[in-house]
Amino acid sequence: MIKPYIFDHPLITDKITRLRDRTTETTEFRQLVEQITALMLFEASRNLPVELRTVETPLVTTTCPVLAGAPPVLIPILRAGLAMVDPLLRMFPNSPVGHVGLVRDHDTLQPVRYLVKLPPVLSDRPVWVLDPMLATGGSVSAALSLIKEQGANDITLISLIAAPEGVARLERDHPGIRIFIAALDERLNDKGYILPGLGDAGDRLFGTE
Ligand code: PRP
Ligand code: URA
Repeated sequence: MIKPYIFDHPLITDKITRLRDRTTETTEFRQLVEQITALMLFEASRNLPVELRTVETPLVTTTCPVLAGAPPVLIPILRAGLAMVDPLLRMFPNSPVGHVGLVRDHDTLQPVRYLVKLPPVLSDRPVWVLDPMLATGGSVSAALSLIKEQGANDITLISLIAAPEGVARLERDHPGIRIFIAALDERLNDKGYILPGLGDAGDRLFGTE
């Protein structure tokens, strides 16, 4: 099992608090999700491979590291994961973007699949799964199973707020993945919402509540 990386940084905690606030409106909410994702990228990308390249500076010829290999494949889980794509594409403009559409059934809390469109090759390159909310873990776990079926073997999950129940589920179902979380919350309520949480991320992002 790889221990989840949980951020502890004032820039991130400040923005998470503003996301939690029920008075934060859609436009600001979306900007905050983008900003937090961009800040999380700094650590999430730490293990990307580098290779040495010869560079001529104005003064000398030297050998320096540059990023090596294919850029990460970005896979947002719809809808809420979509808001995390643009800040990552700004850093990795050549990343392919796959989409996994899942929606939780309100009664059973089971994810219902409505769209899967992935790049043909996911093996031997970083694959980053994006979803701001990890609640029961059912949606991310289902997405990871799909992605693994297509060969992904280097998987990172970037999630803004997680419940301990969701983390435990992923540790059980998908122990080999790396997990980056901006805030680990207390627990789920009896409707499967994260407490204290931020409510329904998709609705708040797209103004559908
Ligand atoms: C939310 C969220 C996750 C899922 C988390 O999506 O974005 O995908 O719930 O819950 P889980 O860990 O218990 O599966 P939702 O199903 O509400 O769809 P939406 O993004 O379209 O609103
Ligand atoms: N999905 C959300 O958007 N929020 C939660 O708290 C749980 C699942």
